[in-house]
Amino acid sequence: MTTTTAPIPVRSPLPDGLAGGTVLIFGGSSGIGLAAGALLGSIGARTVLVGRDKGRLDAAVERVRDAGDGDVLGIAADIRDERAVTEVFERTGAVDHVLHTAGGLTGAGPVAEMTRDTAGEAFDERLWSALAIARAAVPRLGPGGSVTFSSGVLVTRPRPGMSAPLAAVGGVEALARALAVELAPRRLRVNAVRFGQFDTPLSRGAMGADAGEAGDRAVAAAGSGTPLGRWGTADEAASAALFLMANPYMTGEVLTVDGGFSLV
Ligand SMILES: NC(=O)c1ccc[n+]([C@@H]2O[C@H](COP(=O)([O-])OP(=O)(O)OC[C@H]3O[C@@H](n4cnc5c(N)ncnc54)[C@H](OP(=O)(O)O)[C@@H]3O)[C@@H](O)[C@H]2O)c1
Repeated sequence: MTTTTAPIPVRSPLPDGLAGGTVLIFGGSSGIGLAAGALLGSIGARTVLVGRDKGRLDAAVERVRDAGDGDVLGIAADIRDERAVTEVFERTGAVDHVLHTAGGLTGAGPVAEMTRDTAGEAFDERLWSALAIARAAVPRLGPGGSVTFSSGVLVTRPRPGMSAPLAAVGGVEALARALAVELAPRRLRVNAVRFGQFDTPLSRGAMGADAGEAGDRAVAAAGSGTPLGRWGTADEAASAALFLMANPYMTGEVLTVDGGFSLV
């Protein structure tokens, strides 16, 4: 393993310190990943967005391009395919930071109805993909580079029927902390964001809400009982990831951004 005695470089810890760098976003075609791409584009970072659906990816590339003057590239790939993940890195070229927000509620269901295969789908989507991304990222990132994974507050406040996805996501949090220690001698950083409830296509879909006004009302109603009176925006979620990415002294952190949801 490449190690160094030089300390991690001191850089601006503000998000605009990411300007001019390249951020590879697995899950960049929707929700939190897309919001991260647009925020990064607005400060002049180069972004590479990854998702499976080509139409959604093309629309996301347009949106990020409109948000700023940073270069943006879309690559269609499935994170469950390790070879495809490696190819994404090869096509991206130089990369400074990696954000993994891809994934959904795959593998949810009552434990008694679960098979090893259906549970395994959750682990493929969440945990093995995170490992594949880390394995491909490590040789390509330079000192100060980072990987940021995604988790969710249900890891600590579970709901019935979520055992497999939550076991996998809990593993992702452990992976972030373990890799932070293992990769510190290379001056690489690894963190995770534990998201609360945010208004994205994933969370709307989970409660059967559409993207229109009826969906807006359902989201407002769902958020009204939370400590701050609403769900968070995708931008608010994404900015937590950008903080971890930009601050050169953040590593091994699982940062909760949930508007106080975990407290009540
Ligand atoms: N939104 C919330 O309230 C919330 C709460 C807790 C945790 N989280 C976590 O935060 C992350 C982002 O959530 P989100 O709300 O932004 O979700 P989203 O709007 O559904 O976006 C998910 C993104 O991941 C991509 N993706 C999904 N499966 C993929 C695969 N196998 N290969 C490649 N790309 C894939 C999707 O594109 P394609 O489908 O086209 O591939 C899309 O770009 C997820 O890990 C989610 O579990 C979100």
